[in-house]
Amino acid sequence: MFESKTIDEKKQGTVLMKDNFLSKKNKKVYIESYGCQMNFSDSEIVASILLEIGYETTRDIKSANLILINTCSIREKAEQTVRKRLDFFRASKNKKTSIGILGCMAERLKSKFLEEEKLVDLVVGPDSYRDLPNLLKEVNDGRKAINVILSKEETYADLNPVRLDKNGITSFVSIMRGCDNMCSFCVVPFTRGRERSREPKTIINEIKELENNGYKEVTLLGQNVDSYLWTGGGLKKDFQKLSKEAKKNSVNFAQLLDLVARNTFMRIRFSTSHPKDMTDDVLHIMAKHKNICKYIHLPVQSGSSRILKLMNRGYDRDWYLNRVKSIKNIIPECGISMDIITGFCDESEKDHLDTLSLMKAVKYDFGYMFKYSERPNTLAERKYKDNVPDKIKSKRLSEIIDLQQKHSLEQNEKYIGKICEVLVEGLSKKSDDDLFGRTTQNTVAVFPKENTKIGSIVNVLITNCTSATLIGKLIN
Ligand code: 5AD
Ligand code: SF4
Repeated sequence: MFESKTIDEKKQGTVLMKDNFLSKKNKKVYIESYGCQMNFSDSEIVASILLEIGYETTRDIKSANLILINTCSIREKAEQTVRKRLDFFRASKNKKTSIGILGCMAERLKSKFLEEEKLVDLVVGPDSYRDLPNLLKEVNDGRKAINVILSKEETYADLNPVRLDKNGITSFVSIMRGCDNMCSFCVVPFTRGRERSREPKTIINEIKELENNGYKEVTLLGQNVDSYLWTGGGLKKDFQKLSKEAKKNSVNFAQLLDLVARNTFMRIRFSTSHPKDMTDDVLHIMAKHKNICKYIHLPVQSGSSRILKLMNRGYDRDWYLNRVKSIKNIIPECGISMDIITGFCDESEKDHLDTLSLMKAVKYDFGYMFKYSERPNTLAERKYKDNVPDKIKSKRLSEIIDLQQKHSLEQNEKYIGKICEVLVEGLSKKSDDDLFGRTTQNTVAVFPKENTKIGSIVNVLITNCTSATLIGKLIN
């Protein structure tokens, strides 16, 4: 799902920049990224491909020869944001600057983008970044260029991403691409293609390199990590066609997680899990390794079995609650978060109450909540009516957000008086005298800095909290 994917509103439009770029390259690229973490990681792949042909990254639009926007299509609002940015770029563009659209909007709109937005020179889908050098040659010759071919194999496994926008402590490694689930509301299978997994060896190598460069935490990324399956390459859907031997030698997500945990001292996270595919094996591996963080992002989307069926999620309410029960049994201290969509087609007040009651049964640590936004060509767009009035969507959304805020506060209050291990990520946003980091459950903790180094793991006694943050002090 675009679920690897949790979209961090604070990061939208972040300009990616490699610090201390020492090369004497003469061309400059400005890359702005929207959407999920996968898109931000893809921008690092794009930067590494462009570096090979002499482009260095810049934060200054005016000095850029090439402006790239890595776009998101998940909700209409995400697309509108990109259109507005294009209006802004219209003002900065001169004859020497080319403008390219990457990512999900490029894939969804294809050549229509070139027709609709005359200032765009280049349109490149998520599986075609290796073609950028050729496409840029065309653009530099004064032609418009496009490649939106989706691939069965491409995982960019051999590329060494240029780490952009880095804090030097936490990092992301993509383990798979695409999604085969076809949730009826979701545009991702159309924009990112079929599911394929990346070779374990290349994942481990990338992680080791991060560790050698001083990183302390890695998040394994995929639309549905529980569906990860390495069989020697190719599409997941072709698994049944493989020989017995090949099937036996395949690596699933629990095995990959075990392999990663045994090969690094870094903290390990992953995102996103899928309730229909998350096995107890994965939970046992999490419980077994101290360096795997005790946190699962498990989008539920709705608490109503009827709506889950319409959404084509592949599980019902009872199945989901049973998965949560397993998490709580096997990893009692595990943090759990969710995504919820409110106001999906035909959602009644009773369905909405089912969502609220499921939230009460699970008590999530935090969550990402959205109003349903109809996306072109999805099954829901073709078959169902987007018939919940916007006013009702908004009302239900605010009820869900209010309840979640109450739960987040209650969950955080449980830590008061306890000692949490925190990986220090940087200065707190509110004060330079404080540091912030995350607990294993992925909750942000803030504490006075004293002599603590960024990147160290410290013990923090929690003394207070808000619904979003734990507040504490260092202890030895
Ligand atoms: N409308 C609203 N939210 C959506 N999501 C995915 N598609 C849509 C849509 N059409 C949400 C889901 C997903 C998260 C990344 O975005 O909750 O898990
Ligand atoms: Fe996630 Fe479903 Fe979309 Fe796949 S289709 S990205 S599982 S929401």
